[in-house]
Amino acid sequence: MSLNLDKKMDFPPRGELLDFHGVGMTHYFTDNWENIQNFQARPDDILIATYPKAGTTWVSYILDLLYFGQTSPERQTSIPIYSRVPFLEISIPSLVPGTDLADKLPTSPRLIKTHFPVQFVPKSFWEQNCRIIYVARNAKDNVVSYFHFDHMAMIQPEPGDWSSYLQRFMEGKMVWGSWYDHVNGWWKKKQTYSKLHYMFYEDMIEDTGREIDKLCCFLGLSPSAEEKKQITVGVQFDNMKKNDMANYSTFPVMEFKMHSFMRKGKVGDWKNHFTVAQSEEFDEDYKKKMRDPTLQFRTEV
Ligand code: A3P
Repeated sequence: MSLNLDKKMDFPPRGELLDFHGVGMTHYFTDNWENIQNFQARPDDILIATYPKAGTTWVSYILDLLYFGQTSPERQTSIPIYSRVPFLEISIPSLVPGTDLADKLPTSPRLIKTHFPVQFVPKSFWEQNCRIIYVARNAKDNVVSYFHFDHMAMIQPEPGDWSSYLQRFMEGKMVWGSWYDHVNGWWKKKQTYSKLHYMFYEDMIEDTGREIDKLCCFLGLSPSAEEKKQITVGVQFDNMKKNDMANYSTFPVMEFKMHSFMRKGKVGDWKNHFTVAQSEEFDEDYKKKMRDPTLQFRTEV
C-alpha cells in the first residue's frame, strides 16, 4: 500500500503546538489517537523510536537493507523509505494514515517508526515484547537539525528565529515534547525492558560498521561480510543524499526548493549556529535537566 501520492497536493496549513497529555504535539500526530493506541503490534514488529532529527531515516534504511536488501532488490529502487517504514502517528488529510500503512505492510518483520515519548507507545508493542531501537542525538546538533527541518516541513509550526527557537527547545515546547524528557524517558525504559537497543547518532558517525554489528547482534542477524560492506557504503551520507528512495525528495509536505532533508549529516554543526553566550546558557540549563550520570552525549567526535 502506498501513501497516496498520485496527485500533487498543496501544503496543508502548518500545525499549531498544543499541549497533549503534557507533551507538545500538533493535531497531525494526535488526530488518529484512538487507532494509534489500539494499534495491534505483532511479536516480530520492530519499532524505531527517536526524537525528531536524531537519525531515524539513517537507521530505518540500515534496517530495511539488513532485512530486505538481498531478497527484494526492486524494493530498493521503487519504494521510498517513508512507505517502507511507516510513521505510526502521522495523519495528514488526503494521505493514508501511518497506522493504516503499518497495518497493511506486506513485509515480515514490519519496520515501524515513531517519534513518541515512551509513555505514548501503544501498549501492544510492550505486550508483544517487540524489539525496539531507540536512536538519540546530542541536544545541540539535534536542535539545529530540527530548526532547519521545521523550515522545510510545512506541517510543523513556524520555527521563527533561531534564538527564540533555541529557547523553546530548552523549555521543551516542541512537537514531540522536551528532548530532555524524551531521551531520559527512553533511557529509563531500557533498564526494565530488555528488548530495547539504545543507540547514539554520534557513535554511528564515528563507526557505522561497528554500530551495524551491534544492531545485528541485537536483532539476531548475521549478514555476510560482502552484504555488510554493501550496506555500510549504501548508507553513507552522500549516497543516501542522492538516493531518491532515502532522501524524502518525493514526500509531499516538504519544501525542497530552499532546503534539503539530508542537510549536513555531521556531529558538531551546532558550532555554526550557537553563539558563545547561547552555548554557555544552554550548558548551564542542560546540567540542571540531565542529572543521570549514566546517560552521556558527545557534542563532538
Ligand atoms: P542534519 O540536519 O544535521 O544534517 P531524521 O531522519 O531523524 O529526521 O534525522 C535527520 C538527520 O539525520 C539530518 O541531520 C540528516 O542529514 C541526518 N542523516 C540522515 N542520513 C544520514 C547519514 N547516512 N549519515 C549521517 N547523517 C544522516
